[in-house]
Amino acid sequence: MSIAVVYWSGTGNTQAMAEAVVRGIVKGGAEAELLPVAQADPAKVAAGDVFALGCPSMGAEELEESEMEPFVQALEGLVSGKKVLLFGSYGWGDGEWMRTWEERMKEAGATLIGGQGVIANEAPDGEAVEACEKAGEALAEAAK
Ligand SMILES: Cc1cc2nc3c(=O)[nH]c(=O)nc-3n(C[C@H](O)[C@H](O)[C@H](O)COP(=O)(O)O)c2cc1C
Repeated sequence: MSIAVVYWSGTGNTQAMAEAVVRGIVKGGAEAELLPVAQADPAKVAAGDVFALGCPSMGAEELEESEMEPFVQALEGLVSGKKVLLFGSYGWGDGEWMRTWEERMKEAGATLIGGQGVIANEAPDGEAVEACEKAGEALAEAAK
């Protein structure tokens, strides 16, 4: 079963991270499916034991409200026992949105790949791209 990488991205920064996660998954020997959240079905995504979710910090340290927030709400009832990678880009904040998101997923019973989300300031630099690729490899490993 291919590993779903579901993301929302307004200006492409989180999308670049999602693409790096996909490269890591493939490098790790698994198949990946890159899915804009508007095209993703929560039940189908949660049918996998491992998957990745990406969203930038929007609103005031929140998930994007019209597509990603409802998707994550739907997933919260489905992720107990699942291994999930969180990632996303932010601008001027200190990563608060990701800490809140990590707590939500842990409270819903998910295990976070790497123990925490992978974050990048605006467009991911080389180091952030590498962190996404490594996290993708860890996802592939966790799926074995
Ligand atoms: C409407 C809006 C709200 C934002 N709110 C925050 C915020 O609360 N904290 C923050 O650090 N960055 C915030 N940002 C900056 C984005 O998170 C940042 O530009 C990010 O790289 C966008 O990722 P994307 O290219 O995947 O859309 C906001 C950007 C927009 C457009």
